[in-house]
Amino acid sequence: MAFPQTRMRRLRASAGLRGLVRETDLRAGQLVLPLFVNETAGADASPPSREPIATMPGVERLSLSAAVDEAREAAALGIAAVLLFGLPAEKDAQGSGAYDEDGVVQLATRAIKQAVPELLVITDVCLCEYTDHGHCGLVREDGSVDNDASVELLARTAVSHARAGADIVAPSDMMDGRVRAIREELDGEGFAETPILAYSAKFASAFYGPFREAADSAPAFGDRRAYQMDPANGREAVREALLDVQEGADMVMVKPALAYGDLIRSVKRATRLPVAAYNVSGEYAMVKAAAAAGYLDERATVLEILTSLRRAGADTIITYHAKDAARWLAEQT
Ligand code: PBG
Repeated sequence: MAFPQTRMRRLRASAGLRGLVRETDLRAGQLVLPLFVNETAGADASPPSREPIATMPGVERLSLSAAVDEAREAAALGIAAVLLFGLPAEKDAQGSGAYDEDGVVQLATRAIKQAVPELLVITDVCLCEYTDHGHCGLVREDGSVDNDASVELLARTAVSHARAGADIVAPSDMMDGRVRAIREELDGEGFAETPILAYSAKFASAFYGPFREAADSAPAFGDRRAYQMDPANGREAVREALLDVQEGADMVMVKPALAYGDLIRSVKRATRLPVAAYNVSGEYAMVKAAAAAGYLDERATVLEILTSLRRAGADTIITYHAKDAARWLAEQT
């Protein structure tokens, strides 16, 4: 039946009716807050220090103790987890800071789990913040990234994170076979129960620009297109996700989020696994810039974006807006 019998507006007439038929929910418990922990800002004893990141207003590089404060605040707001990125004091060709038992992420993981045990700690497993060349793996003489040698170091990194108390490890390097290698290494070292959240469909995206400034992880030469995906490819994203499932991933990720809603949906359908969407730095920066200029209402825009990612099929959303969103959601109820 069509108009005039069918009137779609009947169920839009009041907040009560709209709430009754709302298809998608958004809760703080679905959000993950990324944190940048800065080793050079000093260890536990020093006062908490925070350094603003110019391209990401509201996001800071945190000293260890400031990261613990931030984790406490996130937990109090009902946020599910923090995702840790490390800024090491020193970098080298092998990215050894990534798998150092006393590396910055390992220290931060221990400190946060001790102070706020109920908050989940997810660690980003990659070499790019720790290598002097800024690539996500080991670089051969000809400048190419050596897949299999990199995978070994990534597995070592994941185990060191698990040993420090990470609840979930999240490889973001895009090397082939890394999920299997990480699973085997974790199992062999007594961490059979540590889940893997695979950055399965991670694209070579312009939207990572602000993050690379924040983490000082831009490649010194070339780009990441020989390992991250071509933004034109959707079927390949599903293939990547299915491979990660075969290799033992417990959750899969699509990244970036906003321009990739179709893939959130198709990866969810194909894998039937929990899917995380990463609302990345450039997506955050666009909203913050427009809001600061008075072009957009920040609160309404952010809640619409996050709801749209849930509608596309994301179970979990990694977002720099997490604290603001959690506050706004609490005010709504
Ligand atoms: C590390 C990594 C990156 C991001 C998450 N993990 C940077 C990259 O691949 O260049 C990007 C996150 C963001 O832009 O918010 N490999």
